[in-house]
This record gives sequence, C-alpha cells and structure tokens, in this order.
Amino acid sequence: MPFPLKSVRATYPALADGHAYLDGAAGTQVPQTVIDAITTAYRTGIGNVGGAFPASHRSDAIVAACRAAVADLVGGRPGGVILGPNMTTLTYRLARALTGPGDEVVLSRLDHDANVRPWTQTGATVRWAEVDPVTGELPVEQYAGLINERTKVVAVTAASNILGTRPDVPAIAELAHQAGALVYVDGVHATPHGPVDMRALGADFYATSAYKWSGPHIGAVVADPALLETIRPDKLASSPDTVPDRFETGTAAFADLDGVTAAVDHLACMVPGAGSRRERLLASMAAAEEHELELFGALIEGLETMSHVTLYGKPARRTATAYFNVSGHTPRQVAEHLARLGVNVWNGHNYAWELTGLLGIRDTGGAVRAGLVHYNDRSDVDRLLEGVARLG
Ligand SMILES: Cc1ncc(COP(=O)(O)O)c(C=O)c1O
Repeated sequence: MPFPLKSVRATYPALADGHAYLDGAAGTQVPQTVIDAITTAYRTGIGNVGGAFPASHRSDAIVAACRAAVADLVGGRPGGVILGPNMTTLTYRLARALTGPGDEVVLSRLDHDANVRPWTQTGATVRWAEVDPVTGELPVEQYAGLINERTKVVAVTAASNILGTRPDVPAIAELAHQAGALVYVDGVHATPHGPVDMRALGADFYATSAYKWSGPHIGAVVADPALLETIRPDKLASSPDTVPDRFETGTAAFADLDGVTAAVDHLACMVPGAGSRRERLLASMAAAEEHELELFGALIEGLETMSHVTLYGKPARRTATAYFNVSGHTPRQVAEHLARLGVNVWNGHNYAWELTGLLGIRDTGGAVRAGLVHYNDRSDVDRLLEGVARLG
C-alpha cells in the first residue's frame, strides 16, 4: 500500500507554515486529532485518578486507554506500560531500581546519553560495546566478551539518534538472556520509523517517547507485568504499590495522556486498512518506513555528490537520519543558513555524547542532523540539498 502523503500532511496544522520540518528526530509536529484530544479532555473536565466522581473516572479511563494504545504500538501488554514525563526520567528510575554497586551493566557508545548516564551513575561496573567510527555499526560479536554471569542489564538502542544505525538488537538480547541479564532497549529514535515488536527485539524493557511520534511530551517504558512484579522502585509510602503504578511518581499529565492515545490512533489510521489497531499500526508504519527510506535515498545521494560535505556513518540498516558537516562552516552556521531558507535542521551533539566523542566532533559543535519522518516530502529534501549546495 503506497503511503498517502498528501492526506497525511494535511492532518498536521503546523506544516502549513511552509517550513521543511527536518528536525523530527528532536520532536515531531502533532496532528489535529492530538490537539483536539488534549483540549477536549480539559474542556470536558478531568480530575485526579481514583475518585468517586465522573471527572475522576474520566481520568481513570484516559490512563487505561493510554496504556492500551502504547502497548499496541510496541507489541507489549497494557499492564506493563509505565507512563511518565519523558524517557530520561523513567530510565533514571529503572536504572536505580535494577542496578547498583556489585552489578555489571553493558552499555554502548552508539546510545543517546539517556540510555548511558542513568546506568553509569548507580555504582554498577560498566563494560562498553564499541562502535565502528567509519560505518557507524555496533558489532554484535563483541558482546560475547562483555556479558558474564555478573551482568545485570544490557542497555542498547534500537536506533542511533544521529547516524540512524539499527543494531542487531535480537542477537544482542539472545546473548544477554543466555547469561541471565535483562535487556533495556531505547526505542525513542526507532519507534517513529517503522513497525515495532518489542518481543521480537528481545527487549525486557522498551522505552519510547510520544513526542517523537506525533504525540505530546510523554515518555513510556514497557515491560512484562510479571517482570515488573519482581522489581521494587523507590516510591512514596502513600502511593499505590500495584504494577505498573508503583513505577510512576506523582500526578500524571492526564490530558496529555489522552493526546498519546490519539497519536497512536493517528499512526494506525495513516494508511487505510482493516483489522485490530495493532495490525493497522504494523501496516501503516511499514508503509511510512518505505516512504521515508525512499526519500532518504535521494537525500543521501544528493549529499554524497557534494565535495564540501562530510557524512558520518554508513550503516547497513538505518532510519532516515543524516548527520553531516559542511567544510568552512560550523554546524550552527549551517543550521542558521538553512533556517533562513525555511529548512529546520538540528545542530550539535544531540546528546549522543559517547558517539560524537568517538567521532571527534563533540567539542567542535558536533554536526548537522537532518532527519526525515513520515510527513516529509520530496520538496523538503530538495530544499535541504539546494541550501547545502549553496555553501559549497
Ligand atoms: C535515542 C533517544 N533516546 C532517548 C532520548 C531522550 O528522550 P526524552 O526526551 O523522552 O527523555 C532521545 C531524545 O532525543 C533520543 O533521541
């Protein structure tokens, strides 16, 4: 099924400003249905959860619907969906609950710092999986030498937020599970770029952030509820001790959670189809991925022909995310030049702290990131290429 780009773009009011939104890797725009869900929740009246009155019951229902929606998106179970303000906050919480001095954790230099620092700061011993700086690949073979019977957690990304590399997570997870370790997968960058099946990945924990896939600023970590029953995070004496509630601190952003459900429904409906929401999500996201990668082929081909451009990484399996520098210009200058032409790109290390250190560009302003999402079109790519060509 071809991706119905024109009708999908029309659902995003912000795209009407005429800018080429190539900053999706830092956060996407939202469709009207998400805006409506959030405003309707407030207009209808919501309360805190667990009360005796209708507005409270509406919030109870919003939370339950949000857990079901996120579970459908990633192939998990609603009872294992932990909701929170963002992935970083939830990962800090889980890292502290899962590991401490005497444990070993295996981290990768491909990862965003949000799947690195929370694990290095618990007192656990860290073992590093290295990245090939030329290809941007994370070789699986090294994991056999890194994982042992003391390994508690292997934390790895499902896709790099700067190079787009999709490492072989199932193979890494198999090695981890053979040693009895848990696998914590950062799916923040991967989730918007194709179908997700956390079980096929071998993820014991799968982290994602709705603002990367057309939703509001909410994060989620999904796990098997039975696994969560075995973990006791820090919590207030007075807050629920049940799963997944005991992993959630404070009062949730209920209206935003309704926006998360609307975002999942939006993704499921981008391509017309039948079946359960999960089935429609898989079909819709597969079509979105095909569309993104086709456009990305043109973007990469165009940048590769420019002798004044240095592209980082050439991974075999990747998301539609390009990271590059332009000779004679700082990444910030390139981003400002493109902004004047109405092209939104990000510049900097993008929190890929270890990886930009390895590439030797962390302290020199990083590079420029142009990331495609499903609502981008050929004119977005052409405008980027024309803008970068002018700097040559
Ligand atoms: C790959 C990746 N992991 C983690 C994060 C952190 O997510 P959050 O902003 O929800 O804490 C980001 C944010 O850009 C990301 O791209």
